[in-house]
Amino acid sequence: MGVDNLAGDRALIAEIESLRKEKRAVILAHYYQQGAIQDIADHIGDSLALARYAATLDDARIIVLCGVHFMGETAKLLCPDKKVLVPDASAGCSLADSCPPAEFEKFVEAHPGHTVVSYVNTSVGVKALTDILVTSGNARRIIDSLPADEKIIFGPDRNLGNYINSITGRRMVLWDGACHVHEKFSLEKILALKAEHPEARVLVHPECTRPVREIADKVGSTAALLDYATASDAAEFIVATESGILHQMRKSCPGKTFIPAPPADSTCACNDCSYMKLNTLVKLRDCLRDETPEITVDPALAERARRPIERMLALS
Ligand code: 13P
Ligand code: SF4
Repeated sequence: MGVDNLAGDRALIAEIESLRKEKRAVILAHYYQQGAIQDIADHIGDSLALARYAATLDDARIIVLCGVHFMGETAKLLCPDKKVLVPDASAGCSLADSCPPAEFEKFVEAHPGHTVVSYVNTSVGVKALTDILVTSGNARRIIDSLPADEKIIFGPDRNLGNYINSITGRRMVLWDGACHVHEKFSLEKILALKAEHPEARVLVHPECTRPVREIADKVGSTAALLDYATASDAAEFIVATESGILHQMRKSCPGKTFIPAPPADSTCACNDCSYMKLNTLVKLRDCLRDETPEITVDPALAERARRPIERMLALS
C-alpha cells in the first residue's frame, strides 16, 4: 500500500472512530469481512456470536452490522428499538436467496407434524415460518436437544443438513439449498495442497460438500475453526471457508501458516464471498455519517421471526 493510501486509511479510521463515539454506535463484524473492517469493529464473530452481541448492547443507539443482510435483520429482530445499519444494502446471501419464503411455506405445508428448523442464513419470511433457528455454531447441540423421535424439516442448506444428519443419526428432511462459495471448493485441489503439506490440518465449514467434509480434521463454524487452529499444535492449516477468516487466524496464531483452499472453477488461490466483500471502510464511514442504509423488518413478520431466534439463544 502506498504512503498516500495509508494516510487516507488512517484519516478514514479516525473519522469512523469519532462518528462511532458521537453517535453511540457499536460496530459488529463477521469474520468474512475485509481485515481493516475486522480491525476497527467493537466485536467480531461468527453468526451466533454476532446475534448474541446484538442482544446485549443496551447502551448503544446504533448497531452497524458489517456482514450480510440477514445478519442485519437478525440484529434488528433482536433489537427493534435500535437503528441497525449495514454498509452496503445489496450485500445479500446466495444461500438465503436459495429459499424463497413462498416456496418454503409449501415445503412446510407438505410436511405436517414436522418441527421446522432453519439455519440463520434465511430471510425474515423464512424465519417467520420456523420453529427454531440454528447457526453452524450450535446446530448439533440444538438438534440433539430435540426428542429422538421428533420429525424435523431443515432448511435451507443441504450440506449443513446432511452433515447434521450424519453426526446425529437423524433423518431430517432437507431443503435443497446451498451457498455458492462453499459448494465451490475443489476436493482435488485440496488433496494436491495436502500432498504438498502433509502435516497440515484441513479445516472445513459445514456448508461445504460431503467429499470436502470427509477429508477434514475439523468441521465447524468460523469461530470453531479459529478456536481449533489456536489450540492445535499443528503448524500448517488448509482452510476451506471464506478467506476473510484467515485474517483473524493469522492474527491469533502469528507463528502458524494458513493456506486458503482454492475453488474449483477459477485460477484464484482463495474463495471470497462477493457479498461479504461489498462492505468497505468508505461505506462504513458513510453509513455511520448518513445513518443509512437502515435495516427495517416487516412488522407483520417481526414477532413470528423473533421467536425462533430467541428459542435458539435460550438453548445455546
Ligand atoms: P458462521 O455462522 O460459521 O459464521 O457462517 C456464516 C456464513 O455465512 C457461512 O457462510
Ligand atoms: Fe451467504 Fe455463502 Fe456468503 Fe456465507 S459465504 S454469506 S452463506 S453467500
